[in-house]
Amino acid sequence: MSNYHIKHLEEYYQVYRKSVRAPKQFWEEIAEEHFLWHKKWDNVLSWDFKKPEVKWFEGAKLNITVNCIDRHLVTKANKTALLFEPNDPNSEAQHITYQQLHDSVCQFANVLKAKGITKGDRVCIYLPMIPELAIATLACARIGAIHSVVFAGFSATALATRINDSDCKMVITSDGAYRGAKTIDLKGIVDDALENCAGVATVLVAKHINTDIAMVSGRDEWLQPLLDAAATTCAPEIMDAEDPLFILYTSGSTGMPKGMVHTTGGYMVYTAYTFKNVFQYKEDDVYWCTADIGWITGHSYIVYGPLANGATTLMFEGVPSYPDFGRFWQIVEKHKVNQFYTAPTAIRALAKEGLELVEQYDLSSLKVLGSVGEPINEEAWHWYNDNIGKKQSPIVDTWWQTETGGIMITPIPFATPTKPTYATLPFPGIQPALMDDKGVELKENQVSGRLCIKFPWPSMARTIWGNHQRYKDTYFSAFENTYFTGDGALRDEVGYYRITGRVDDVIIVSGHNLGTAPIEDAINEHPAVAESAIVGFPHDIKGNALYGYVILKDVGESRNQDNLRKEINQIITEHVGPIAKLDKIQFTSGLPKTRSGKIMRRILRKIACNDTANLGDTSTLLNPEVVEAIMANAI
Ligand code: WTA
Repeated sequence: MSNYHIKHLEEYYQVYRKSVRAPKQFWEEIAEEHFLWHKKWDNVLSWDFKKPEVKWFEGAKLNITVNCIDRHLVTKANKTALLFEPNDPNSEAQHITYQQLHDSVCQFANVLKAKGITKGDRVCIYLPMIPELAIATLACARIGAIHSVVFAGFSATALATRINDSDCKMVITSDGAYRGAKTIDLKGIVDDALENCAGVATVLVAKHINTDIAMVSGRDEWLQPLLDAAATTCAPEIMDAEDPLFILYTSGSTGMPKGMVHTTGGYMVYTAYTFKNVFQYKEDDVYWCTADIGWITGHSYIVYGPLANGATTLMFEGVPSYPDFGRFWQIVEKHKVNQFYTAPTAIRALAKEGLELVEQYDLSSLKVLGSVGEPINEEAWHWYNDNIGKKQSPIVDTWWQTETGGIMITPIPFATPTKPTYATLPFPGIQPALMDDKGVELKENQVSGRLCIKFPWPSMARTIWGNHQRYKDTYFSAFENTYFTGDGALRDEVGYYRITGRVDDVIIVSGHNLGTAPIEDAINEHPAVAESAIVGFPHDIKGNALYGYVILKDVGESRNQDNLRKEINQIITEHVGPIAKLDKIQFTSGLPKTRSGKIMRRILRKIACNDTANLGDTSTLLNPEVVEAIMANAI
């Protein structure tokens, strides 16, 4: 018998030990007992972190949508699968049952097929948080097409880069999106992006905000009439366990975003098993994750993990601040939400507002609270625990990454005692290690180091689309024979982990990972800019905000600096998206560089953080005098 559902701490330790002692047997039992396979595997796991190559359930055949939808139809056809809460609180929520989800996914899948999409083709999905987004991803999975969901806050340039990187044949979008009281012209952004994407033959457009938009004949088609004409059954494509399920882009320290490739069988098993345990989902619960499906949290814990468990998963189109900052709590009351999973940045924003916005709603349905995306600070943790959970609902501080596919370090509610700011213990099957700078593993407790994972787990990304070498260099080269996360962490006296943050040039702003390179490239496009460098500094609500140091070409640039700042942020918005705008921009005559020409970001970071008492070693700088000048003019 597998221990699919962990209920006590002792049970956790017992299951954990088994998962480390006999990992293949452990995962085999879970895979065997809780999922539908068209054909079982020949081999549970083969791996080599040197190549690197990892294969789970090799030889097995399945379709993930059969596991997420069809198999529930026998007992749960009329249960709500997707519960859609629209942006406008006065519009009706939609309850989409498992049967309706089945029919809609099949119709959508048939439309994709009719448009020539076949197994292995890449389809870009650029949609707001409306049911079509979940349905489109599942429709791709139904026919074996690889979905690449791009968060609908990204700009046309960012969208085009992602479409081209994975040669998407089709884009699925909508006539627009609501964002609180505003609307966004999504289709216009797609049109701009496609000027540079020759490979896209078809654009399917969902009608959502009912604006008048231009349709390019021969390329663009309204979705609804096609769906209406399509059959409500569609035989699932039988996939190999290691066939790609989706590509999802994440920022790297340098260069292009990385198209992380997730495969089918292991991803399904791991997201389902973590969902069940981390949220302790029970049959009639209503589960709500506030993330956008454009991020990994939405893929794994709005769509695949919950649906594989036959859960009711709530999808919210809107924002926490519209029509007021009580919106989340109003939704919790309205739908009697049992598990609520959100990000520290949202908690901090809500904690700034008056408690009356919380207290006017009945939150007694809540059983488990979750946090993800960045370290949760102590103050936010307590606010969440006291005012939302009323000290009754354990907080699961879940640490994981786009690359890991599923939750890696987390308490199991009602089993693991929580500790503010600690993600606590590794999930079964996960073998973390802390490394010192020299690559030696720190085995004792009460140490801090670089967080690595020593053994493969089923939902790990298998490669970077089109660039396996980069996958190897980024994750498997820093330390021998182990996956490097890019995060720093400490382990306390009882073995609990606390994630301390990125140790590379990725900056997490409001829970969004931003690489410095694409932002600097965007700034450098401004005709007046010679060079730039971006660093993060602490911000009350966003966690981190961006500080830009900009060198102008013409030192005597006479233009109004505030206008220049606006123009720079405008360019960033166009090239990357509004999430990457800089909070502070300092014009400077130089940047601290090493003799080999590398910008010393460590120093810039300290200046941005107003922590200049100890700048560390500046002796290797080519131009130490520039540091004084930057400090004197810091904002
Ligand atoms: C950070 C999001 C501290 C971390 C699922 C990681 C966290 C990056 C936590 C991945 C947490 C995520 N505590 N830090 N509970 N969760 N992070 O790819 O730096 O968007 O490497 O995946 O977010 O972000 P990503």
